[in-house]
Amino acid sequence: MSKKIFSGVQPTGNLHLGNYLGAIKNFVNLQKEKDNTCIYCVVDLHAITVKQDPRILKKNIRETTATFLASGLDPKKSIIFNQSMVPSHSEGAWLLGCVARMGWLNRMTQFKEKAGKDKEKASVGLYIYPVLMASDILLYNSTHVPVGEDQKQHLELTRDIAQKFNLDFNSPNFLITPEPLIQKNFSRIMSLKDGKKKMSKSDPSDQSRINMTDDKDQIVNKIKKAKTDSGEFPENNNDLNKRPELNNLFGIYSSIQDQDMKSTINEFQGKNFSEFKNRLAEVLVEKIYPISKEISKLLKDEKYIDEVLIEGSVKAEKIAKKKVYDIKEKIGF
Ligand code: TYM
Repeated sequence: MSKKIFSGVQPTGNLHLGNYLGAIKNFVNLQKEKDNTCIYCVVDLHAITVKQDPRILKKNIRETTATFLASGLDPKKSIIFNQSMVPSHSEGAWLLGCVARMGWLNRMTQFKEKAGKDKEKASVGLYIYPVLMASDILLYNSTHVPVGEDQKQHLELTRDIAQKFNLDFNSPNFLITPEPLIQKNFSRIMSLKDGKKKMSKSDPSDQSRINMTDDKDQIVNKIKKAKTDSGEFPENNNDLNKRPELNNLFGIYSSIQDQDMKSTINEFQGKNFSEFKNRLAEVLVEKIYPISKEISKLLKDEKYIDEVLIEGSVKAEKIAKKKVYDIKEKIGF
């Protein structure tokens, strides 16, 4: 069955191994399936829900685009664009925001985490962020949305908004309820310093993550220093379930090698921590360093990156504009 794929990544600083293994790697695989239509968006409007420096934002938009391209996304096969160049996204967010309920948004755990204790000071944009995300997805009649585990709740909200709109305006199946595509085993890559915390761009410690722009030495060093524990080398899956740091490192290895956890445990039977870490560093250098080198190369040609975004935006706007028109018609405009 042909799938309509949509996904987005925020241009808020270095993309990291979590973004790659949780999302971008899957974007590339989906692009390879012949019948799929793939649309991938640099969600710069989402980025400004927290304060951004205008010069750095522009650089980050290009860097996120370069990471898409360097990872294997091809502008001839997928539509690659940035959200702020397609005004229909914002218009759709307003229209859908009048369907979404406060009670639904109040349940969003990401808002609670990001707003922290002082939520009165969070931007209104941060609060309605999931409605913009619903607009992103619904304007393209997307059937499948590849994301990491942390975005699952936002996808459920998108489905609720679509269903309520269809019901309110008596239009069954007009807005398509999308399915999340979440990697089965390694949907959440954790910090290298704390196996209970998600690997994240906003972690103040650079040692907590592998950035997609890291060089060989940085990758090797970060794995060498990654937290483990003082227990014996793990022998089975049950062993790992109680040891979050090791579970994460074994998960990263399995995900990079496209194999299940059991095969990884078997592969390292009779080995020790330093042998495992050396091999992990080696496979990460093999897979991530070529992408990092390609990102640097692409970033030297800003004109090319800007052209990719402009061309992608023209294609995206054509589709999104039509859907906004149809939504407005249903509403009575
Ligand atoms: P963002 O920019 O935080 O993250 C981009 C993608 O990377 C995944 N991800 C992870 N996966 C596994 N382990 C991790 N540690 C990890 N950290 C991040 C995220 O789940 C995501 O798939 N709201 C979205 C962006 C967005 C979007 C959309 C996504 C806006 N509109 C429409 C899909 C469809 C976000 O902030 O992702």
